Amino acid sequence: MSKTNTAPANATDSSLHVTVPGSDTAVDLAVTDGAIRATDLRKIPAGDGALLSYDPAFLNTASCRSAITFIDGDKGILRYRGYPIEQLAGKASFLEVAWLLRHGELPTQGEYDTWVHDITYHTYVHENVKTFLQGFRYDAHPMSMLCSAVAALSSFYPSAKNIHDPEERNLAIIRLIAKLPTLAAFAYRHIKGLPFVYPDNDLSYVENFLSMVARMTEPQYEARPVFTRATEILFILHADHEQNCSTNAVRAVGSSHVDPFSAVAAGIAALYGPLHGGANEAVLRMIQDIGNVKNVPAFIEEVKSGKGSSRLMGFGHRVYKSYDPRARIVKALADEVFKEVGVDKDLEIALELERIALSDDYFVSRKLYPNVDFYTGMIYRSMKFPMDFFTVLFAIARTAGWLAQWEEMLLDKEQKIARPRQIYVGPGERPYAGTLKY
Ligand code: CMC
Repeated sequence: MSKTNTAPANATDSSLHVTVPGSDTAVDLAVTDGAIRATDLRKIPAGDGALLSYDPAFLNTASCRSAITFIDGDKGILRYRGYPIEQLAGKASFLEVAWLLRHGELPTQGEYDTWVHDITYHTYVHENVKTFLQGFRYDAHPMSMLCSAVAALSSFYPSAKNIHDPEERNLAIIRLIAKLPTLAAFAYRHIKGLPFVYPDNDLSYVENFLSMVARMTEPQYEARPVFTRATEILFILHADHEQNCSTNAVRAVGSSHVDPFSAVAAGIAALYGPLHGGANEAVLRMIQDIGNVKNVPAFIEEVKSGKGSSRLMGFGHRVYKSYDPRARIVKALADEVFKEVGVDKDLEIALELERIALSDDYFVSRKLYPNVDFYTGMIYRSMKFPMDFFTVLFAIARTAGWLAQWEEMLLDKEQKIARPRQIYVGPGERPYAGTLKY
């Protein structure tokens, strides 16, 4: 089979002419936005049937058309709805970004005020959710708690299954964005053996979250402004990242038309993994294992040799083949935070890892650069968050993106239940001749 005419990238209304050697078959496949439709491959005969594309892990397959987030991995560009991440992270609030992701435009003052009001007034959870969370062991991982609690919310709001009703969708989206910080903070307090702190409607989204985490006897908790600012920025950086593993999970599970609480619980489960959101926790564990800056060269050699299971956590990305723009912002933010609260004890190790990796041919040739997770853990640690809580912080922020993507998927007439094909490589038909006794 030969391709005789490949379309230039991003061309529209062009075509790919395919001829099948040894046959008269010649097919023109339409190329739109630089992509062919995989279903058009069925026009091409192959073996006993039609041609199928094989793409484990979606390395070169677009699963949707999306207008939410743009990434240029080679140039290190990230934009939400066209707005550069650098501008949003410096100037916008997280809830403004959450609105933008969902609606496509920045909110007017009136829209924003109503949005903030609605989110603020849905932060409480049913008292039974508290009891549910108290059933977890003292050493439960907070991501397990969060994932289960969000799935459980589906049973508290059964009308959320009316996903084709815009009002129900709106309410479920507000509830999810509003309650995630409450559930996350309750998980934290449970593990610490501390009483739960109820939401304070006089505080901003981020301040209220920090209050539910840290408040003790004071009548109103006042977070350090540098921590409020850092959290706001980190939430914005984590709010969406187009079709990553967890977003794909939310879209795939949501495509069965289950309620959004269940779909978001699937996203949290995907985010938990160390190759995805769990990497921020894994970075700090790796740095702790390295222990001293003098051990960095030996660790780098171990990673390069492929011995053991070591990877340089916080490095590499499926899409970014240059510096992750979020990592640049996080590094500058870390400097700001450390200036106020003191330098993290392991910063020296992190800087040395980054210095060696950025000049070592193994990493350079594979285009492995620091990703967003490389420095976030150190900021979170300076805020006294335990390591296993880092991914929970990521999940709170990503909920805004998951929901925007979920709704976009639902409203996209082209989408159907996600159901990939497979290439069967197992045995052919054979007779059952079981010998077990029951
Ligand atoms: N350390 C050492 N080698 C690496 C790393 C790394 N962190 N990442 C990739 N490589 C190597 C890999 O061994 C392979 O080498 P070779 O071609 O010799 O076999 C090559 O680079 C390509 O790697 P890949 O696994 O095919 O790349 P991928 O696109 O499937 O994986 C990744 C992307 C993020 C899973 C991977 O880079 C990784 O495991 N990074 C560490 C975990 C991490 O930091 N994850 C957070 C990602 S950013 C936050 C988020 O969006 O979740």
